[in-house]
Amino acid sequence: MTDPDTLLTQALERARVAPDDEALRALDREFLQKGGVVANLLASIPTLPPDQRKATGQKANQIKQALEAALAARKAELEEAALASERSGAGFDATLPGAKQERGGLHPITQVTRELEDLFTSMGWMVLDGPEVELDWYNFEALNIPKDHPARDMQDTFFCDVSTKNAHERDLSGKVVMRTHTSPVQVRAMERLKPPFRAIVPGKVFRNESTDASHEHTFHQMEGLCIGKDVSVGHLIGAMKTLLRGIFGREIEIRLRPGYFPFVEPGFELDARCPFCKDGCSVCKRSTWIELLPCGMVHPNVLKAGGIDPEQWTGFAFGLGLSRLVMLRHGIDDVRMLLSGDLRFLEQF
Ligand code: FA5
Repeated sequence: MTDPDTLLTQALERARVAPDDEALRALDREFLQKGGVVANLLASIPTLPPDQRKATGQKANQIKQALEAALAARKAELEEAALASERSGAGFDATLPGAKQERGGLHPITQVTRELEDLFTSMGWMVLDGPEVELDWYNFEALNIPKDHPARDMQDTFFCDVSTKNAHERDLSGKVVMRTHTSPVQVRAMERLKPPFRAIVPGKVFRNESTDASHEHTFHQMEGLCIGKDVSVGHLIGAMKTLLRGIFGREIEIRLRPGYFPFVEPGFELDARCPFCKDGCSVCKRSTWIELLPCGMVHPNVLKAGGIDPEQWTGFAFGLGLSRLVMLRHGIDDVRMLLSGDLRFLEQF
């Protein structure tokens, strides 16, 4: 074994010229950490003749203290040198581009949602929210779609596999769905608010669709509900025209066709005159009309389910396909881009 004095001399020299922190850490490991030179020296003491033990212990301590001091001194020197070099501007190139700050933007669906919220709140409407995981009762039954009714086929549903009992010990198996539309919030709103009231409900909905360019399994809708005295189809048409003016920035011709939804009577499909052409284009499939807004007068059974007396109050409701509206506005030809998370797509908005 090399004698301790030589080892110390070598270590002190290596510390003095250590080029960086890593070299200092290596010395620390080699001499001072567990299994290092100092520890081995201390461990050897019991095996030495008694007259050498004291001197060896002292030597080990001396190496430890001397090396600790040398490492600290060199570390301070290196830090000072690094600071001095930074201060002198060495290695600084003012012509290099700065660190880029990545800034996020609003998703086009969020942009349109906010615009519509501004528009409707300026007319005195509320903005409401509702659960995305919904009870079958609100999603279907309270909306006049009983179990086994053929209308359930219109919205292929994701059922949630829930444990049979919840905190209130209700049996929920087969009764929890991912909401297929924003309409369940109609009934939730009726339960909580006293008529008259007007509210919109933007939100995400889910359907077990085979996806294609115009069908997604997860998409956005915006529900509208207006309950009051003597609310009529005239009010519905007025509100829909205002909505379209807000979206397209000008008067848009509309037409109503009969449409079947169990929760409205009468029900309509509202079409807007294609804002992009005069005599037919690919957006309106050469018809000059775009199917945009299912709507109608709230069915008395739905008012009853929400605790509102249909003899006293009437109302209209609409269910805007927000995702399709965003596609229309930006000329997006595939709905699946919207929630793809593809930055090349999103950075365009
Ligand atoms: C409904 O969901 C009704 N709740 C709308 C309603 C509300 C009617 C209030 C009357 C009163 P529908 O299934 O047609 O209706 O969907 C409404 C809109 O959502 C459609 O017009 C369409 O724009 C959009 N939509 C439907 N399915 C998809 C899908 N798979 N992908 C993207 N958008 C869709």
